[in-house]
Amino acid sequence: MSNQRSGLSARELFKRGEGVTYDDFTILNTTYSEIDKSDISLEAHLGRNITLRTPIVASPMDTVTSTAMCIAIALEGGIGCIHYNFKNPDGSPNIEEQIKVVEQVKRFENGFIENPVTVSPEQTIREVLESSQRNKVGKSSIDNFPVTENGEPHGKLLGLLRQQDYSRRLHTNVQVKDRMVPLDKLIMAEWPITLNQANAMLWERHLLLLPIADKKGKLKYLVTRSDLDKNDEFPLTTKDENKRLRVLFAVETRPEFAYPRLERGFASGADGCIIDTSQGFSRYEAEMIKYILQKFPDKLIIGGNISTPEAARLLAKEGLHSYRNGQGTGSICTTAGAIGISRAGAAGIYHSAKSSKMATIGDGGLRQVGDIVKTLTIGADAVMLGYMLAGTQESPGEVEIDEGTGMPIKIYRGMGSKEANVGGIRGYSRLPQGVQGNVNYKGSVHEWIPLIRDGLISAFQVMNVSSIEELHKRMYSGEIRFERRTIASLQESGVHDIKK
Ligand code: XMP
Repeated sequence: MSNQRSGLSARELFKRGEGVTYDDFTILNTTYSEIDKSDISLEAHLGRNITLRTPIVASPMDTVTSTAMCIAIALEGGIGCIHYNFKNPDGSPNIEEQIKVVEQVKRFENGFIENPVTVSPEQTIREVLESSQRNKVGKSSIDNFPVTENGEPHGKLLGLLRQQDYSRRLHTNVQVKDRMVPLDKLIMAEWPITLNQANAMLWERHLLLLPIADKKGKLKYLVTRSDLDKNDEFPLTTKDENKRLRVLFAVETRPEFAYPRLERGFASGADGCIIDTSQGFSRYEAEMIKYILQKFPDKLIIGGNISTPEAARLLAKEGLHSYRNGQGTGSICTTAGAIGISRAGAAGIYHSAKSSKMATIGDGGLRQVGDIVKTLTIGADAVMLGYMLAGTQESPGEVEIDEGTGMPIKIYRGMGSKEANVGGIRGYSRLPQGVQGNVNYKGSVHEWIPLIRDGLISAFQVMNVSSIEELHKRMYSGEIRFERRTIASLQESGVHDIKK
């Protein structure tokens, strides 16, 4: 009996010069599985101590990632990167709009809310409601407000205006001071206090909100019960050391916009940035990496897009932590046709990932959970999703009804498309390198990501690996085996021979 191993090692599969991608191969079931699902971790390390419990990054695209997506994906253990396609009426970049999203995400689920929306005692309830609209967190507006002198964020605390203190109909012209709980009746805490102590106080005193002031009576933080409830509901949440959601923002390579964007984004608490260009193997990107490392040394920098070891080695030498691997592979992308330079997604990942110590993020062309499994197996530490998150409840844009099928859809478009119109900032030429189209409405990220995780965990169990690191080790050692697919096998692996 022959002891020859089935199939191919990754090295044999990804032969030099062959554009192998996801549909060209499958992973073979060659390992006796004895691992328990509860022992499997999907943790991904992106650099700068940022770890995701779900190895998914939401792509910085204007039909994928803004406030609601960043919040939802972080709650599910991944991270979102806010796109930079916010514009002024004259078409110039509107940096403030992007930064507002950073602030909204950072404010969302806090242990200590550092910058709660505050109001002044002289404001009317109407003005407060307007401010609440402007400061919406995802789909929900803010209803409770610490009242401070002059309404300043960390001004002297004068009271608390809670949802139950005012009517949106009856009190529009009434001043805050006439409806708020004034300081002498307010239960508050003095800083310093630990989050656990604050939590205990909320429960003991039957409170929904606890303002915390310093010794001089100036507002320092707000702690809320709803945040604590969220903590219980989302145990995978990607949080920073202050228990705020982690978030990334996209920057261009053009210094005149990128420098102020970086300044504002990091001042607002963002955890890292993505240098968002279709062509990362360039002087512009290398110079931007140097600048960010020098100015913001503790922040995560993700670069790209690249797809070759030549590019990965250079960017690693510049000190980059993580990079997006994928050129011309996105579902909405026409780069390969427009400029003739691209690479098969899987081949790009396999060859580049092993050439540097940076974290590799497989980006573009992932259509189903099995593609994510393959990406992680051949060397990626995490994936970036556009298509698979577009059309969710949390992606920007409204649900429409497709005239042909009557089914709900949402718009999804490439950032290099004519419709996105980002101009030269992403490095695209004037010739469009992306298209706009529709995708089926997929429901909420809170239902979809758990399903994706389920699929990944099942695959890890079949491969008998407990972590992404172990998966990579076993792939590089040749233990994980692959097989090339014929067209017939591809047909066989899809749904066939049934009537739909
Ligand atoms: P998927 O397949 O997830 O791909 O939809 C998303 C990724 O595609 C890239 N991207 C583009 N590439 N032209 C391109 O060549 C474009 O207009 C474009 N827009 C996005 C990007 O890397 C994204 O994460």
